[in-house]
Amino acid sequence: MQISQQIKDKFKNSKNILALTGAGISAESGVPTFRGKEGLWKQYRAEELATPQAFFRDPKLVWEWYLWRMELITTKSPNPAHFALAELENKRSNFNLITQNVDGLHKKSGSKKIIEIHGNIFRNRCTDCDKTYDSDLLILKNSTECPNCKSIVRPDVLWFGESYDTDLLNQAISLAEKSELVFIIGSSGAVGIPVELARIAKENGAFVIEINTDQSGYSRYADLFLQGKAGEILPELIPYFV
Ligand code: APR
Repeated sequence: MQISQQIKDKFKNSKNILALTGAGISAESGVPTFRGKEGLWKQYRAEELATPQAFFRDPKLVWEWYLWRMELITTKSPNPAHFALAELENKRSNFNLITQNVDGLHKKSGSKKIIEIHGNIFRNRCTDCDKTYDSDLLILKNSTECPNCKSIVRPDVLWFGESYDTDLLNQAISLAEKSELVFIIGSSGAVGIPVELARIAKENGAFVIEINTDQSGYSRYADLFLQGKAGEILPELIPYFV
């Protein structure tokens, strides 16, 4: 991929670099995105299942969806886009990654400095005592009963209508404020807070590069829009970070 001298200089001179990723970065790993045509499960959309109301109305159905997603994701591997960001973290000490994804593929690819702003599908939380458990413990026990207080356990992910974890959000905002170069990768911008992070970064002078197969709700903040698959574009950019 040919990039301009201006971009090469940006890559060379930017110290604080941030990547904000969405479901699109895992698409080439075979993990369905939320709003693509493959985003349906039994004709339900994420917005209908990933809510506290849906869970307390029909916990069995919501658990069925999460167990289906967990099973699917455990069969998937990180793709070149995930590995490219892990490599960038090794090249730049001030590189940070904020992901909306709950699939754990960034960690699996070797990234360490990750803010999972929407939680992690393989971690569960008791709805009463807040204790957290790894999914394999519950799957082994074939139970969603909290071993500590017997209340029902839920996936430890952020649902529609819920507030962000304050600590994680404050960390994300501070990274957005101080980043000089921001990559927005594979996100539609359908959810407000992550788009706000892009606006904050832009307002604080960051150079914003968006990588997406289509325009998105972030595109208005992008100084450079690289249209295409993250798994093809990112590996071509990382070598420029010398
Ligand atoms: N490379 C780059 N971008 C891609 C690719 C790809 N191979 N495939 C799809 N995309 C883009 C799509 O064009 C779309 O803009 O990825 C984006 C996926 O958008 P969504 O499915 O809306 O996923 P995301 O933006 O992560 O959703 C945000 O909404 O459902 C909630 O909490 C959930 O974290 C999720 C949040």
